[in-house]
Amino acid sequence: MEKLGLRYEGKAKKVYDTDQSEYFWVAYKDDATAFNGEKKGQIADKGEVNNQLSALFFEEIEKAGILTHYVRLLSDRDMLVRRLDMIPLEVVVRNIAAGSLAKRLGVEEGLVLSQPVVELYYKDDELGDPLVNESHVAAMGWASMADAKEIQALGLKINELLQGILVKAGIQLIDFKLEFGLANGKVYLGDEISPDTCRYWDIETREKLDKDRFRRDLGGVEEAYQEVFRRVKEVLTQA
Ligand code: TMP
Repeated sequence: MEKLGLRYEGKAKKVYDTDQSEYFWVAYKDDATAFNGEKKGQIADKGEVNNQLSALFFEEIEKAGILTHYVRLLSDRDMLVRRLDMIPLEVVVRNIAAGSLAKRLGVEEGLVLSQPVVELYYKDDELGDPLVNESHVAAMGWASMADAKEIQALGLKINELLQGILVKAGIQLIDFKLEFGLANGKVYLGDEISPDTCRYWDIETREKLDKDRFRRDLGGVEEAYQEVFRRVKEVLTQA
């Protein structure tokens, strides 16, 4: 597989064309941003953790019969993915109130939600990714209603699957964000599943093991990323 020109550079990844038009080469960076790019920094070896941890999760999700863009690892920091037409929505699934939900609803971070909450955000940096609902999606034509329903249902299914893996690693899945796209008329999971895009708390100590350590200047950021990767790898390679 040959890496060709840079197609797109995001905040955490670079996407390159390859010699096969239906596949992209994704290079994971150590760059970290928060608050819609206002806070910038680096997390050493984050690219390696997010690439390899995402690969482990994508493999499990594929085994459960859900299509993902993941094809294979190309190196510790690089992954080959299927080219998708991205749906411009973020699907956030929450089990415990935290972050923007705790703020919006005025509840304590840590409140156990009596059922998972699924939210849609319109992906637009200039607007700060506003929260939207299905009627916005339909009115704006961001996705068909069938696809909007499917990505939310997939979000809930992936929540069950990830919780099952993470609990064995002593980690509570607080919330996470997914992105989806279309190829050959089918919905595929895209993007990444990593400590950048999820909240993970240690089940015993409630210690945060995710990007909130960077967002909130809690220290021990690199160690937390490495710890999650180590624990999940141990669970999935034992199975
Ligand atoms: P929030 O509480 O800030 O809305 O975040 C919910 C989840 O989504 C959390 O696990 C972090 C993830 N997330 C992203 O992956 N990218 C983003 O740009 C934001 C705002 C959140």
